[in-house]
Amino acid sequence: MPKYAVIMPAAGSSERFGGSEKKPFAKLDGRPVFLKTLEAFVNREDVCQTLLVVAKEDAERMRTSYGANLAFMNVRLIEGGARRRDSVAHALREVRDDAEYVAVHDAVRPCVTQEMIDAVFAEAVKSGAAILACPVAATLKRVSGAGVVEETVPRDALHEAQTPQVFRKDLLLDAYSRLAADDPVTDDAQVVERAGQAVRLVASDASNLKITVRADLSLASAILKSRPTRAVRKMGAFEEAQW
Ligand code: C5P
Repeated sequence: MPKYAVIMPAAGSSERFGGSEKKPFAKLDGRPVFLKTLEAFVNREDVCQTLLVVAKEDAERMRTSYGANLAFMNVRLIEGGARRRDSVAHALREVRDDAEYVAVHDAVRPCVTQEMIDAVFAEAVKSGAAILACPVAATLKRVSGAGVVEETVPRDALHEAQTPQVFRKDLLLDAYSRLAADDPVTDDAQVVERAGQAVRLVASDASNLKITVRADLSLASAILKSRPTRAVRKMGAFEEAQW
């Protein structure tokens, strides 16, 4: 069975979220979002290591408030960086030798399902680089600085990239080592694309949402409550819909 190290970035500043609390620590059905997200990975047999990346100023509070949970789940804390790419790069340095694959998953995507993880993990083994993504449903406008529509962007081939994003470890390490210091990449697939490697999409849906604004917490709670129990959940359609 291939082994995966999971890097979970949670070191952002949460500017769009508002308030004093950062979004990974906000409560979702009474528990912090990042704990809910971690639970999707830590009990999987194919996950050999889990690295949670937090901002320097949050590390102490994490140890005090959640040290027992993290120890129980065998999760290691890593100090984040200024940009998401820096946070991931810090964790990459700590990935264990026995991990053949690295999965990066945002701490603020707590609604990811086991079926989604299974599908993107399997595609990474086939192709070396795979991400969850869903077709864009909205009509997209490119707008000038003055708030005037310049163009309606055809959405036919557009997809929204999600996480997990999963890569052969050597490939991801090599891509990060080549990345220009000022490259403004916003996800790990882009790092790998820059290195000339094809990235495969695995079909997902909007339920794997990224908590961005406060209202997303209610949405995430509703999504989690709407799901059937594990015993009867089956996602044949999801597998068939793979690219
Ligand atoms: O900002 P955005 O919503 O794209 O962040 C996605 C994830 O990356 C969040 O979980 C956030 O905490 C994390 N992040 C990070 N380090 C940064 C910026 C973002 O770990 N410097």
